[in-house]
Amino acid sequence: MHNFTPTAIQLVDYYDDGEHARHFNFRLLAEPEAASQGIAHHWQHVKAGQFFMLCVPSVGEAPFTFTQAPDETGHFRALVRRMGSVTSALFELEAGQILGARGPFGKGWPMNGIADKRVLVVGGGCGLAPLVSVVNQLIDQQNYTQLTVVYGARNRMVQMLNPERERWQHIIPVYNMIEDGTTNGDDNEYIGTPVDIMPTVLNSFGELPEVALLAGPEAMMYSMAEYLVAFGLSDHSIYLSIERRMHCAVGTCGHCYLKNKYACTDGPTFRWDELQQYMVQGTG
Ligand SMILES: Cc1cc2nc3c(=O)[nH]c(=O)nc-3n(C[C@H](O)[C@H](O)[C@H](O)COP(=O)(O)OP(=O)(O)OC[C@H]3O[C@@H](n4cnc5c(N)ncnc54)[C@H](O)[C@@H]3O)c2cc1C
Ligand code: FES
Repeated sequence: MHNFTPTAIQLVDYYDDGEHARHFNFRLLAEPEAASQGIAHHWQHVKAGQFFMLCVPSVGEAPFTFTQAPDETGHFRALVRRMGSVTSALFELEAGQILGARGPFGKGWPMNGIADKRVLVVGGGCGLAPLVSVVNQLIDQQNYTQLTVVYGARNRMVQMLNPERERWQHIIPVYNMIEDGTTNGDDNEYIGTPVDIMPTVLNSFGELPEVALLAGPEAMMYSMAEYLVAFGLSDHSIYLSIERRMHCAVGTCGHCYLKNKYACTDGPTFRWDELQQYMVQGTG
């Protein structure tokens, strides 16, 4: 039996980033009987790319990726874009409010297959959120051969995760793509989409990337995956994080059904060759 009872969490603080998007810092509140033992075991081992269900009392639940997994004090972060009922209610809350969270859910990124590899990371818009923890982990543990981030946004106003990208660009190549040309003249800003800059990026690798991680609008991810395969990458080496409507997050309600797979339990990260099979008669 699955336990659908949320764990109590506290909204610690937040800051705005981009248009209609906000970083939230939450804290898991220890159950009274477990207070002396700190946070529950299952929250201590969150993997990059996993997600949680955020419960806003009297409103509902919605899935969000951890941009920072819970630390030993139970603090964790998520970047949330304001969309509808749950997210709008969340944006009205002040620090100190108590909410709920269920999780962690999903498979996350294949970290064992990424370590010590040539890694290409491509995020679009809010889709960079599921990639933040994997980039931070690779950088902090220095376990990559080569690592490059490409980030696409419609215009400068909607760019998100500016502090993270600024930190990364001191350490690894970061290409910031702006579609409408509202660039600031910064060295690592370019006009166009992530696909437009790919010839430059791939040539900078010397040898082709061994792993590509993609997250963002599905049209962007699919055209990027097709481009990378045409350029010579194996479709076994490309992973995508996909979003579907989710209710239970544990594979019972069927809302996130793909062909013979559930995005909540079998994903949300999928290998490109496998995802193409699941999408044949799926809901995507
Ligand atoms: C695994 C997973 C991880 C996610 N991580 C993040 C994250 O880190 N940050 C973030 O901002 N968002 C993330 N999302 C999307 C987020 O869950 C939705 O934006 C949220 O559910 C909207 O809830 P709402 O009640 O505010 O909007 P609703 O009132 O439910 O919907 C508002 C509008 O958004 C559309 N919508 C809602 N959910 C989805 C969805 N999953 N896919 C496509 N369209 C949708 C609806 O069709 C409607 O048009 C993630 C989704 C999934 C499945
Ligand atoms: S959200 Fe219910 S089966 Fe995936």
